Amino acid sequence: MSEFVTVAKVGSIPENTGGTFKVGDRLVAVFHWGGQYHAIDDLCPHMGASLGAGCVDEDGAVACPWHAWRFDVTDGTWCDNPRIKIDAFEVRIVGDDIQVRARTE
Ligand code: FES
Repeated sequence: MSEFVTVAKVGSIPENTGGTFKVGDRLVAVFHWGGQYHAIDDLCPHMGASLGAGCVDEDGAVACPWHAWRFDVTDGTWCDNPRIKIDAFEVRIVGDDIQVRARTE
């Protein structure tokens, strides 16, 4: 059974940026974009950079800090090949806590 994990406080992640957090046994990149919080796998599938360190553009795509592969922060789609996605995680706000649902697979 998966559970929500508190990762940060509302307001602690500036708009168009992200951070990396441990959720269960995964590292998750949580971004603040479009007035909402979004969570995708932190591990870039190219060479393993941390996507949480990237900046989000006006279209909601985070650019990997190493070689600029871009991923949609809302669902993990790789912008250069939409048939490929990295994992996305459910996010909720409880009070002033940002919570991410752990995935068990
Ligand atoms: S490690 Fe992310 S684009 Fe190369």
